[in-house]
Amino acid sequence: MEERNAIELTNITKDFKVLNRHEGLKGSIRDLFSRDYRTVRAVDDVSMQIKEGEIVGYLGPNGAGKSTTIKMMTGVLEPTSGSIVVNGVVPYKDRVKSSANIGVVFGQRSQLWWSLPLIESFNLLKDIYLVDDKDYDDMMALYRSFVDLEPLLHKTVRQMSLGQRTLSDILAAFLHNPGIVFLDEPTIGLDVSMKATIRELIKGLNKEKKTTVILTTHDMGDVDALCERIVIIDKGRKIYDNDIEHLKNFFGSYRTLKVRVGSDTWEEHLIDEKNEDVMEVLREIQKTKKVRDMKLEEISTEEVIKKIYEGGV
Ligand SMILES: Nc1ncnc2c1ncn2[C@@H]1O[C@H](COP(=O)(O)OP(=O)(O)O)[C@@H](O)[C@H]1O
Ligand SMILES: [Mg+2]
Repeated sequence: MEERNAIELTNITKDFKVLNRHEGLKGSIRDLFSRDYRTVRAVDDVSMQIKEGEIVGYLGPNGAGKSTTIKMMTGVLEPTSGSIVVNGVVPYKDRVKSSANIGVVFGQRSQLWWSLPLIESFNLLKDIYLVDDKDYDDMMALYRSFVDLEPLLHKTVRQMSLGQRTLSDILAAFLHNPGIVFLDEPTIGLDVSMKATIRELIKGLNKEKKTTVILTTHDMGDVDALCERIVIIDKGRKIYDNDIEHLKNFFGSYRTLKVRVGSDTWEEHLIDEKNEDVMEVLREIQKTKKVRDMKLEEISTEEVIKKIYEGGV
């Protein structure tokens, strides 16, 4: 099968002009008239290619530029410089064509009609995106194979829990079977079981429909469950782009030493076995604490990412 790039970003930069605010009443009045702007570079020279059907974790600390990148990929924002092609279209230039083939979920901000029962929102989306009856029915059948739709369909979004709303948003984003779905922090604030449901759903839809998925999240469980490849940005710059396995291999000599020092208190120590001896570390701990139990584990994805954020790679 020929692999085509679903998304191509080439040297994308996005600057925001922000007003330098001055304090107090006098300052506010001054701000009304002054043109004292500074430039914030939210995305700095980012290039990446994402293939059709990939699930890519787009990660980075708060303020790194993830949402800004997604807004450019979805045509909401125009890049300051660089070129961007999504599904063969320049998103901000052709928003109509662009939106026909993408789905978007911004966590905690529903795209759905608040006062409508979900089924009516779905019917509206069906009309807006010109989904024919058969495709619609097939998609609903596929949804039913992953989640119990009945408690959702006749509720308004307003009546839903955060988890139900997020689930509904994700279903709505996939409804017209777009080539690419962008999920910006979809699992934020959700409980463990809803997270699991949503991961299964995303994974299943990606598999069945070959949908390309770009996912931002702070939950490493999402990354472990869904992403083979991750792209990490920090302060607007891309600092990592490769598959997860590569990353774990890079940190292959790292271990997490877990020691139980109280009845139910575990301490974690990250050890690089190349430079440190586990037994030595353990002896050091024992000088000040009574160690009741210990476990040695591989480094977790979470710790790997933390290390990269700290400048470990
Ligand atoms: N509309 C805007 N105006 C000014 N600054 C913005 C705007 N949107 C985002 N920023 C700034 O750009 C940077 C990146 O923000 P964002 O893309 O939201 O990061 P992330 O999603 O990774 O948390 C931050 O410094 C943020 O304050
Ligand atoms: Mg964001």
